[in-house]
Amino acid sequence: MRVLLSQRQIEDKVSEMARTITRDFLGKTPVLVGILKGSVFFLSDLIRRLDLDHEVDFISISSYASGVTSSGTVRMLKDLDHDISGRDVLIVEDIIDSGLSLSYLRKNLLSRNPRSLSIATLLDKRVAREREIYVDYVGFEIENEFVIGYGLDYAERYRELPYVAIMEEDDAAAITGEFSTASRAGKATPA
Ligand code: IMP
Ligand code: MG
Repeated sequence: MRVLLSQRQIEDKVSEMARTITRDFLGKTPVLVGILKGSVFFLSDLIRRLDLDHEVDFISISSYASGVTSSGTVRMLKDLDHDISGRDVLIVEDIIDSGLSLSYLRKNLLSRNPRSLSIATLLDKRVAREREIYVDYVGFEIENEFVIGYGLDYAERYRELPYVAIMEEDDAAAITGEFSTASRAGKATPA
């Protein structure tokens, strides 16, 4: 893997975003909606730097690209625990890629009549966008490369890295190798 954003760069950026969000939501008590699971790391660092009363809720969605077309379907896996009608809602996302997940989520949450709805993302793969979507707070705009770390996973791995790195072939191979070893070990040998 190749480090793209260091721990220090991420910390500085999250602090800066927290200051802006604190200023923009002054006097309000926003509901921060984290999108599971990738955004958990960003969200937890962000809220500890907010100088603002706020609530936290989570939602889980899953998106599937269908075949070669760019259309995808998005499915809700876990809904919010609380009613957001009349509330100032801030969606907190780790990365925006095609924009399909967020355009679905935005529509879904808007139908519940929040007072306002804004979006914060740590990473933005602007060039990969298939659905146009306005993003209020962007940490870093990055190239169209697969990244891991700071919550972002490849096959549920690498979320714990304190930095964001560009995924390379041997990172995938490390996991594939592990899987095939595990499946060999799990195979019953005839007595
Ligand atoms: P979108 O609907 O294409 O915008 O997908 C966004 C979601 O895809 C993110 O919330 C991530 O879960 C996942 N994703 C997109 N790009 C990456 C990446 O480079 N690394 C890890 N996950 C990614
Ligand atoms: Mg995600």
